[in-house]
Amino acid sequence: MRKNFENWQHKEHEPLILSLSEENKSSLQIAKKLKKLYGIELKPNSFARLIRAFLTWNKTKQAQPIEEPVKVAKIEENKPIQRDTKPKRKQDNEVKTYLVAGCFHFPFHNIKLFDSFLKIINYLGDNLDGIVINGDYLDLMSLSSHAAGQNILPGIDLQVEYSSGLDGLLSIDKAITHSGVRKMFNWGNHEDRYKRHMNNSDNSKYGSALQSPTDGLKLHELGYEVNEDWKDGYFTLENKVDVFHGIYCNKYSAGKHLEMFQRSCVFNHTHRIQSYFSNGIAAFNGGTMAEINNKAFSYMPRSQKMQWENGFNVVRFDSGGNEYIQQLTARNNKFIFDGFVF
Ligand SMILES: [Fe+2]
Repeated sequence: MRKNFENWQHKEHEPLILSLSEENKSSLQIAKKLKKLYGIELKPNSFARLIRAFLTWNKTKQAQPIEEPVKVAKIEENKPIQRDTKPKRKQDNEVKTYLVAGCFHFPFHNIKLFDSFLKIINYLGDNLDGIVINGDYLDLMSLSSHAAGQNILPGIDLQVEYSSGLDGLLSIDKAITHSGVRKMFNWGNHEDRYKRHMNNSDNSKYGSALQSPTDGLKLHELGYEVNEDWKDGYFTLENKVDVFHGIYCNKYSAGKHLEMFQRSCVFNHTHRIQSYFSNGIAAFNGGTMAEINNKAFSYMPRSQKMQWENGFNVVRFDSGGNEYIQQLTARNNKFIFDGFVF
């Protein structure tokens, strides 16, 4: 039996083989179907043996999905975070792969979609090079000036928001399989609520006793590079694609960001999914990971929320430095990637 099917001749047929196998078709039936469709020269029995070996290999290579749902949970104060003891990736892959996701709005994130997001992190495994949390990871309703003097949602306070967000980051760490993953965190306008709150002279007296999102989420301790300047700061992936939260919120914001920055970029901010290409560069608007119908967003009119979409981006680079940006749009909290439903 072949031990490794990473580079076998029938890679392009894998999605069809897997889907026919899921329909309980036998290896021989699959072999005959592919021979008919693609004129494969192998004899049916030999081809069927090869398919059987591939299916066995594929079953064992797939990462175990993470089944634990993400919950809002209190993290014990001063509990030390376990340092990353994961092994370094053994060999460099020619293709670089980054996940860029934003606007989770913890603790109002889409719990099912976040679970699928953890699964794709785990699935990419050693092939994952980096992850960008692209702003509005937290909602920070507790520090919103809109909520000043009003009761916010029952059970929500700053400690709950930080604890829920930290719980999410620890789940991401658990899903990551090697210590070479570059972790980046952009603040968005919602994290910036902290700065606006502290600029108020009445609140500035709290000083460092009121933790910032960077401290509340223990970002440095968890190994994140952090950009706290949501309007002007950004990360650049492979010298080619800039990633920032986004500043323009108009209907055609992808076109607007490309026009203004003249660089390929990925942003979130508007909760819409869009892309705009011009002269060999492109801007991608990555959607939201929030639970769109959560009461927390009742301040938004329905007509506006109808334009929100759940999703995120996969940004890949080949060895020549060319970028390939794939928008993953969720339907019923699931998305399709590499021929698999997550
Ligand atoms: Fe947002």
